[in-house]
Amino acid sequence: MPTPQVFVTRQIFPEALEMIAREARLEVWPDDYPPSPEQLRRKLAQADGVLTNIMDRLDAAAMAAAPNLKIISQMAVGVDNIDLAEATRRGIPVGHTPGVLAKATADLTFALLMAAARRVSESDRWVRRGQWQLAFHPMHWLGVDIHGATLGILGLGQIGLEVARRARGFEMKLMYHSRTRRPQAEAEYGLEYAELPEVLAAADFVTVHVPLTAATRHYIGERELRMMKPSAILVNVARGPVVDAKALYKVLKEGGIRAAALDVTDPEPIPADDPLLSLENLLVTPHIGSASVSSRRAMCLMAARNLLAGLKGQRLEACANGDLYQVKNRGC
Ligand code: NAP
Ligand code: GLV
Repeated sequence: MPTPQVFVTRQIFPEALEMIAREARLEVWPDDYPPSPEQLRRKLAQADGVLTNIMDRLDAAAMAAAPNLKIISQMAVGVDNIDLAEATRRGIPVGHTPGVLAKATADLTFALLMAAARRVSESDRWVRRGQWQLAFHPMHWLGVDIHGATLGILGLGQIGLEVARRARGFEMKLMYHSRTRRPQAEAEYGLEYAELPEVLAAADFVTVHVPLTAATRHYIGERELRMMKPSAILVNVARGPVVDAKALYKVLKEGGIRAAALDVTDPEPIPADDPLLSLENLLVTPHIGSASVSSRRAMCLMAARNLLAGLKGQRLEACANGDLYQVKNRGC
C-alpha cells in the first residue's frame, strides 16, 4: 500500500504530528488562521486523511474535492462544522475526541458559573478602571451564593455529568434536562430529571451542554430565557448558536435574568462592537473550555489515533457518524 497523504489543518502538539509522520506523508497548514475554502479544497484533493478542528468547514463541496479521503479526524468533541450526513453518504468516518476534554470543560463551566455569581470579572474591570475609591461598603458588590443553589444542567452527556460531579461538592441541588434520561446518574448524583421549562423555572444557575444540531439551534431563545428567574444566571459552554444572542441581549439588558457567562458566542469571534459586550452582567471567554495543556494534548493524540485507524480502515476510538457502519459496514 502506498504511504498515505495526510493534511493537518493547524499546528498541533508535536507528539501527535510525530505519531502521524511515522505512518504517513504529512503536511501541516502553517498559519494560525484556517485555510480558505478554496485552499482547503486544494489540500484535500491530494489527501487520504485530514485532521481538522472546529474552525474548518468540511461541507459537501470540500468532500467533493477529496476523491481519496478515507478519514476526517476532528480534534474536538463537537462536529457541527462537518457535514456528517455527507460524510456518511461518502463512506467517510468522522473521528472526534469525546471524554478526554470533559473534565477540563466542566472546570471552565464552573469557573464561569462562580465568576458570574460573585461578579469576578465585573469587579476586576472596575478596579482596573481606577473606580475602587471606597475600601469597603456592606451593601456593595453583592453577588449570589453557589452553595445551596439549584443548578439546572441542559444536556447530561460527558461534560454535563462532570459539571454535576463538581456541583455536588458545592452543595448544590441538581436538576437536569436531556434527550435521554440517565437513571444511574440520577441515583449517583441526586439529579432530578424534569422537562426543559421546569428546569428553567426552578434553577438559579443553568449550564448548557447540548451539541449544536438542527434541533438545538436557538434551544435557548427569548421564550426560554423568560422562563428563568430574574435572579438566575445562564452559562453556555456548548456552542454559540444554541443560545439566541439577540434574545439574550434583550433579556439581560431588561434584567430578565441576572447575568450570563459565555465561553461560546454567535458568531465567533464576537465582534468588539457586539451589543452584548456593552453589558456589565455578561462575561465572555474565547472558547477555551478544553484549553488546558493536558486536555489539548490528549485531544491531539486521540485525533491522531483516530486518523491512523481511519487510514487503515480500522474502527475508530470515537466516531461521530456511527450510522456509517450500517451504511457501508466499515470505519466505525
Ligand atoms: P455528549 O457526551 O454527547 O453530551 C451531549 C448531551 O446532550 C447528551 O446527553 C445528549 O443526549 C444531549 N442532547 C443532544 N441533543 C439534545 C437535545 N436536542 N435536547 C436535549 N439534550 C440533547 O457531549 P459532551 O462531550 O458533553 O459535549 C457537549 C458539547 O459541548 C459538544 O457537542 C460541544 O459542542 C460542546 N463543547 C464545548 C467546549 C468548549 O470549549 N466550550 C468543549 C467541549 C465541548 P443523548 O444522551 O441522547 O445523546
Ligand atoms: C470544543 O469546542 C469541542 O467541541 O471539543
